[in-house]
Amino acid sequence: MCGICGVVGHRPATPIVFEGLRRLEYRGYDSAGIATLDEGRIERRRAAGKLDNLAAVLETQPLYGTTGIGHTRWATHGAPTENNAHPHGTSRVAIVHNGIIENFETLRTELEAEGQVFETETDSETIAQMVDYYLAAGQSPREAAFATLRRLEGAYAVAMIFAGHEGLMIGARHGAPLAVGFGDGEMFLGSDSLALAPLTRRIAYLDDGDCVVITPEKAEFFDHTGEPVERKIQVTALIAGAVGKDGYRHYMEKELHEHPLVIGQTLQRMVDPATRKVVLPPLPCDLATIPRGVITACGSAYYAGMIGRYWLEEIARLPIDIDVASELRYRNPPLTPGSLGMLISQSGETADTLAALRALKAIGLPVLSVLNAEHSTMARESDLVLGTVAGPEISVASTKAFTAQLTVLACLTIAMGRARGTLDEAGEDELVTALLDLPGKAAEVFSHQADIRKMAGIVAEARDVLYLGRGSAYPVAMEGALKLKEISYIHAEAYAAGEMKHGPISLIDRTVPIVATIPSGPLFEKTLSNLQEAKARGGRLLAFTDEAGAERLSAIAEHTIALPEVHPFVTPVIQTIGVQILAYETALLKGTDVDQPRNLAKSVTVE
Ligand code: M6R
Repeated sequence: MCGICGVVGHRPATPIVFEGLRRLEYRGYDSAGIATLDEGRIERRRAAGKLDNLAAVLETQPLYGTTGIGHTRWATHGAPTENNAHPHGTSRVAIVHNGIIENFETLRTELEAEGQVFETETDSETIAQMVDYYLAAGQSPREAAFATLRRLEGAYAVAMIFAGHEGLMIGARHGAPLAVGFGDGEMFLGSDSLALAPLTRRIAYLDDGDCVVITPEKAEFFDHTGEPVERKIQVTALIAGAVGKDGYRHYMEKELHEHPLVIGQTLQRMVDPATRKVVLPPLPCDLATIPRGVITACGSAYYAGMIGRYWLEEIARLPIDIDVASELRYRNPPLTPGSLGMLISQSGETADTLAALRALKAIGLPVLSVLNAEHSTMARESDLVLGTVAGPEISVASTKAFTAQLTVLACLTIAMGRARGTLDEAGEDELVTALLDLPGKAAEVFSHQADIRKMAGIVAEARDVLYLGRGSAYPVAMEGALKLKEISYIHAEAYAAGEMKHGPISLIDRTVPIVATIPSGPLFEKTLSNLQEAKARGGRLLAFTDEAGAERLSAIAEHTIALPEVHPFVTPVIQTIGVQILAYETALLKGTDVDQPRNLAKSVTVE
């Protein structure tokens, strides 16, 4: 959610922290702020809105000092105003916080009774006021910070600096990620390794409950009991240049164009080129005998999971339970012992999915996670990680991570089918060939971009849009509807095409375009009949099909996109790229903030 960056060192802190915040802005952009120690005094600059507003403030009111912390906010408690912007603080301490302090009301009442004066509506300020209270009582920064952290309930990643203590920063995490970067004579804190990418590749991640005391020379880690602990320094593969726009107008446009690349890279990791067989790392269970699978995720990753369910059930004959993580977590379902838990997440930090992971592990299920961030909390807590090789995804709307997730799930399906005896050698070869053809076919989708733009002209005029699909094209419709809502602010709903006649068909008139994901194949005729029913009631049809389906659809649809012909197994991948481009083109026409749509954040680390 919010992004945190901090430095203690020998160079001016503000440009370093600001650059870190730029790389974290995808986590939240309701407000931003930086605090530094200037000759031992705490100085703060904050601004509502995006980082550019903070840059303007810093231009006229520069911040000096070599110790500093910064924050980009996704508001939870308190409006996104300058006053509620982090860092929060007093003359003694400044803090930045990501997460939610659940007992903040109790603590605030207690602190106010002791004379602490609050200035904001946020839960986060409680941390600053409590540290201040302990400092005023004569405790050292370390004592005050540790005493405060012991009182907090909820989720937090926090960084603190203290007046009169140049070169000292204290960080802590509980349920929200925090990483320490090791430089030469300087040390950094960041919400993720992306923030620290241009500064250092030597990173240590805090475990849940950890605290870290940082000076320019070293980092001392303490676990949740306060005992000193070692945390391994890992060398990240990220390079600073990996997150530029490369001449594209938006990150989303760049990331859309990376579909072929990430599918190819992910396949390279999962398919042995010599044998053309899917190769999985050692598994935490026997694929041949597991009775069921449980898939959970959020947002787009959940829709990828739904497509995975179609594949795993049909091809590997593995029964699948699937639910969004925020529901699965609290539904307490009676899961079959011996089932395999499967999580999907780009960030590996989504709080709902992480909570579901822990719930699955608590009841003894092995957990396999499909993750893009391979150093994330979920990666550390899973029994097995199957990595999507999508690289950093910056646009809040997920695109390339989705097709990389589908690629991994397709490979997993093939491996499962082989292990369970539902897929013979010839069958495996056929599906692997379909996958290996995908990067080239994915690239061909972009030859339809101009036609999709024309379709977007109709969608952009609408207030409501219906997306329809059957079988594995139904979650593709859901992904299309989510993407449209997210970045163009047009209301969109996805329905299983066969469900239309059970209610939503009453919505149909000329003002509600219907986007159909309808590849040729066994479900084509039935879906076509559903579209005919909508057409008969005045609906304007916009269809994503393939070359084989184009002629039939052209007869009834106002716009038909004939996407490249592929094996039916992988049509959801190709169709997804089509509906994602439609959302992008519509957002361009609407003039919205494509990469940072309102009210959203890339990494959702609160429940
Ligand atoms: O990082 P994750 O994959 O766990 O994120 C899950 C969702 O928050 C994410 O897919 C969200 O729905 C995207 N903004 C969709 O474009």
